[in-house]
Amino acid sequence: MSPSTGRKPRLAVLVSGRGSNLQAVLDAIADDRLDAEIVGVFSDRPGAAALERVPLALRWSAEARAFADRAVFDAVLADAVDAVAPDWVFCAGYMRILGHAFVQRFDGRLLNVHPSLLPRYKGLHTHARALEAGDREHGASVHFVVPELDAGTVVAQARIPVLPGDSAEDLAMRLLPEEHRLVVAVLALASAGRLAEHGGQVQLDGQTLFKPLELDSDGILHPGSHS
Ligand code: GAR
Repeated sequence: MSPSTGRKPRLAVLVSGRGSNLQAVLDAIADDRLDAEIVGVFSDRPGAAALERVPLALRWSAEARAFADRAVFDAVLADAVDAVAPDWVFCAGYMRILGHAFVQRFDGRLLNVHPSLLPRYKGLHTHARALEAGDREHGASVHFVVPELDAGTVVAQARIPVLPGDSAEDLAMRLLPEEHRLVVAVLALASAGRLAEHGGQVQLDGQTLFKPLELDSDGILHPGSHS
């Protein structure tokens, strides 16, 4: 229950693909590891496998390419999301850039998971880019969304070592379960009313977070040591 409203925090989830992060959230809710309710799953791709993970009544989709431009699609999507009155909007593999108006409308309650240690490797092909750069560590970030791609303030990160001989697929496969744990841990903070963003700064329990939180091997978040 949310301490302020006495009801379960309402999550809207935006998806474009297979939906393994959405599934991690569903599983955490089912196992009582996350005290929240998914009130809608929204997709720019009506064929997205992620949609199948929730009952029909929770699904909303529209083919983004059929709209005149991004602003028109974003406005329709924003109305649909608003209609379910979410406390938090979580982008779980949502692969379209959200425009200024959308971000503004859900300002302070819009989170995204990205498969890199931001600010490194915004955009696509993050695993291959980490390998090409010879990085010894790779990871995932959950951040507040701003109109610039993958540029919002980072709340928390999960790290994995890059092992000799790793391919981009190996890295992606090893990172995914950590990503899932990271997402659940951050959504638990958000749902408990412990997370906020003001003026580009993340606050945890009312205190400004100067470094992203870090996930440990038990799925617990700790104060971060990396900027
Ligand atoms: C995840 O790895 C997520 O971090 C990434 O897409 C994948 C979606 O997987 N998101 C981005 O790249 C956003 N920039 P899923 O559909 O199985 O959750």
